[in-house]
Amino acid sequence: MIQLSRFLIFFFIIVFWLLLGCKNSEKVNAEVDESKAMGLSDAFVDDFYMGVAVNGRLIDGVDSLGTSLLKREFNSITPENIMKWMYIHPEEDGFDFQMSDKYVAMGQRDSSFIVGHTLVWHSQLADWVEEVSDSTEMVEVLRHHINAIMGRYKGKIQSWDVVNEALNEDGTLRESVFLKTIGPQYLDLAFRLASEVDPDAQLTYNDYNLTAADKRKGAISIVKNLKSRGIKIDVVGMQGHWNLKGPTLEEIEQSIVDYYNAGVKVAITELDITVLPNPWDLEGAEVSQNFEGDEKMNPFPQSLPDSVEQQLASRYKSIFQLFLKHREKIDRVTFWGIQDGASWLNGWPIRNRTNYPLLFDRNYSPKAAYHEVMGLKK
Ligand code: XIL
Repeated sequence: MIQLSRFLIFFFIIVFWLLLGCKNSEKVNAEVDESKAMGLSDAFVDDFYMGVAVNGRLIDGVDSLGTSLLKREFNSITPENIMKWMYIHPEEDGFDFQMSDKYVAMGQRDSSFIVGHTLVWHSQLADWVEEVSDSTEMVEVLRHHINAIMGRYKGKIQSWDVVNEALNEDGTLRESVFLKTIGPQYLDLAFRLASEVDPDAQLTYNDYNLTAADKRKGAISIVKNLKSRGIKIDVVGMQGHWNLKGPTLEEIEQSIVDYYNAGVKVAITELDITVLPNPWDLEGAEVSQNFEGDEKMNPFPQSLPDSVEQQLASRYKSIFQLFLKHREKIDRVTFWGIQDGASWLNGWPIRNRTNYPLLFDRNYSPKAAYHEVMGLKK
């Protein structure tokens, strides 16, 4: 009897000890996992900032999965829409800083490198600006706009897209309302004003297709013209709305080198890689044609086939290999959206499609492309 109770006591001690052991080892594993939770921005910390465009849901804090992903993976943010003229300065005497204040507070909370996007752009402009027809008045409009917005966030927003998309594809200046009223000097004015309001802010000229030869020449002459007049410009922002084949790695590389040689750093400001057919590749196709509901144009409504997933992964890998090769010329790489479901490419240039252009899928999980990019740093 005594032996049996001894045995039972011994038995319970063993069971208790085993249970405790399991629990502790769970804790150890959790700690190991936690310490392994290294994100893109940690992996590339010695190379360049890893940024992401944030939408209203992230800024409002209602996308909690997005918020954790953002904190883990990225150390720079760009506002996807909320600082564009039509939202932040909708009336001549009326600014709306509600969302931009939240955006900046969020960046400060996370100690992110905070980008302002964008001060002077023909698109997503407020209607009242389109009606300005006189040069003196437009100069005042720009002065007021830049002073008010940059002034409010002086010392808090570290980098500004001062002028966005000023160029045509042939490298000439686009006929925007700013060009029509003020003339080409509007670029000088915008950059000069920006450098006066916050002399420490990084100032960027940002555009798409900046890898194309003619447009590249146009961007380089913007940089050189500003510099020759002693006006500050620090960065050329190549948006990076690319696809599986183009631009070629050679074009990307040549562009990075050419901009750097013109005396600025390069940022990849809006990176995403579409995997869907492009209406502009089709003969005679115009994006104004209605492709909505056309199955050929939306081939992967449920999921991305493995073969395309692999193509995307190797495209991202080779692009980041190139970025690493030129890391001293590159200041930042920013993805245009937190995960595939939040990408503007689901709605542009054709509405209601299912695209897969980013490193995280619709469940906020890293994709093959993410692992390839991270693999470059292991
Ligand atoms: C896009 C946003 O992602 C969309 O949500 C919006 O409807 C249109 O603008 N170049 C830019 C970005 O500089 O501001 C654009 O963002 C994409 C192209």
